[in-house]
Amino acid sequence: MRKIVLGLFLSLLAGLMSCVSVPKNDAVISGIAWWDNNGEEVNAHASCVVEDNGVFYLFGEAHTDDNNEYTGINCYSSTDLVNWTFENKVLGVQPDGLLGPGRVGERAKVMKCPSTGEYVMFMHTDDMKYMDPHVGYAVCDRIDGDYKFMGELKYKDSYIRRWDLSVFQDQDGTGYLLTHEGNIYRLAEDYRSVDSILVEELVPGGEAPVMLKDKGRYYWIFSEKTSWERNNNYYLSATSLAGPWERKGLLCPEGKTTWNSQSAFALPVVSGVDTMYVYMGDRWSYPKQGSAATYVWQPLTIGDGEISIPEYQSAWRLDKESATWEAVESNIKRGVASSVFSVGEWELTDKGFRSKEAGARLSATIKGRQVALYGISEPHSGYAKVTIRDNKGVEVLSTVVDFYSQYRTEGLKLLSPVLPKGKYQITVEVLGTWAESYTKSGKHFGSDDSYVYITDFGSIK
Ligand code: GLA
Repeated sequence: MRKIVLGLFLSLLAGLMSCVSVPKNDAVISGIAWWDNNGEEVNAHASCVVEDNGVFYLFGEAHTDDNNEYTGINCYSSTDLVNWTFENKVLGVQPDGLLGPGRVGERAKVMKCPSTGEYVMFMHTDDMKYMDPHVGYAVCDRIDGDYKFMGELKYKDSYIRRWDLSVFQDQDGTGYLLTHEGNIYRLAEDYRSVDSILVEELVPGGEAPVMLKDKGRYYWIFSEKTSWERNNNYYLSATSLAGPWERKGLLCPEGKTTWNSQSAFALPVVSGVDTMYVYMGDRWSYPKQGSAATYVWQPLTIGDGEISIPEYQSAWRLDKESATWEAVESNIKRGVASSVFSVGEWELTDKGFRSKEAGARLSATIKGRQVALYGISEPHSGYAKVTIRDNKGVEVLSTVVDFYSQYRTEGLKLLSPVLPKGKYQITVEVLGTWAESYTKSGKHFGSDDSYVYITDFGSIK
C-alpha cells in the first residue's frame, strides 16, 4: 500500500514538475523550422490563416524534398500563432484531373462563404512545367474537414488561365479572387464561380498577390516574378477595389528582399480594441522545400495610407485580446556546447566555422530540452543536414537547413522541438548542394555554392 501511495505521489510530482518546467515556445520566430504537436515540421507553405470561433487555422502546401508535385493541403490549428496542432490533410491528391498525380497545386486560400456557411478553398493547379494553369476550388462544411474538390472555377463557362492566386473577403461578405498580373475577380454569392472582373492586368509581372483592408483603404501586395527566389515585394493602395490604384513602393527596406521572403497572406487579428495585421511570407528553398523552406511572419506597420515592415522582428508575440504585439527576448542560452569536434575541412574565422566540403561535419554536445544552432547566411551558402542524437545515440531529429541569403545575415538557423531533458549531440553536415531554381525562360536564381557557416550552438534548459 505504502509503495502504491509513494508511486502515485512520485508520478504526480513528476507530472507537476513537467508542467512547471517544460518551456513552451511563446514567440513567432521567422526563418526556422516550426514543429507541430507531433514533433513534425509544420508543412503548410504559401499559406493562409483563417480565424474561426477564436481558433487560428493554418492551410498550406504540403511539400517534399523531391520535387514540386502536389501532395496535398495541410491544416493546423493554434490559438497563439506559435504552437500548432496538426488537424488534417484537408485535400489530397485526386485520382485524376487538375489535382491528380503529376500536377502542381499551390497557394490554397480558404474563406467561409457567408451566404452558404460553406468553407471554400481556392488553389492554383498546373502541370509540372507550369504551362497549364487553372484555378480550382474545393468545398467543405467544416473548416478542418475533408474538402471536396469541385474542379475548375469558372467565369461565364470559361476557365481562368491564371497561376498565383489569393482571396480577399470584404466587410460586406463579398469574396474576391486575386491573381498575378493584378486581376481582381468578384465571386458569385455562393463563392463557386466568378461573376465579374473588376480589375484586369493592372500589375504586369506581379506575382503572389495579397490583399488587406484597413480603415477603408485597400492594400495590395505583390512579389516580382523570380521563381522561388526572394525579391523586394511592393504594394499598391486604393480606397475602392475597382481603383484607381496607386503604386506605393516597397514593403521592406530596399535590398532586404522582403526580409528573405515572398508574400503569401495578411492575417487580420481583430479585437474590440484594435486590429493588427500579420504579414505571412515564404522563405522558399527549392528543391528541399519539405524540410528547408520556412515561414517569415512579421507584424505589419500601418500608418497614413502606407504599410511596411521597417525592421525584422526575430521573435515576437501576439496579444490576441488587444490585437497588439511585442518583441520577445530570446530565452536560448548561447555558448553552451561542450566537446565540439569536426570531420573534414573547416575554415576557422573570427565568427565561427565555415566549410563547403560535402560530407564535412561539425558536432557538439549540448544539455537541455531544446537544441539551437546559429549561423551566417550568404549569397554562396548551401544546405546542411542537421542531426540530433540523444545520450544513447538514438536519432531524435534529422532535417535540412538552408543557409542561403542574397545578403549576409546572422542568426538562429534551427531550434529543435521540445525533447526530454538530457544530453544531446548535434551534428551539422555540409551537403555540398544548394537552393536554386530557373524561370520558364531558363534564368538562374538562388545560390551557386555550398558554404555552411556555423557561429554558435545554444539550448533551452
Ligand atoms: C513563384 C510562385 C510560386 C511558385 C513558383 C514556381 O514563386 O509565386 O507560388 O509557383 O513561382 O516557380
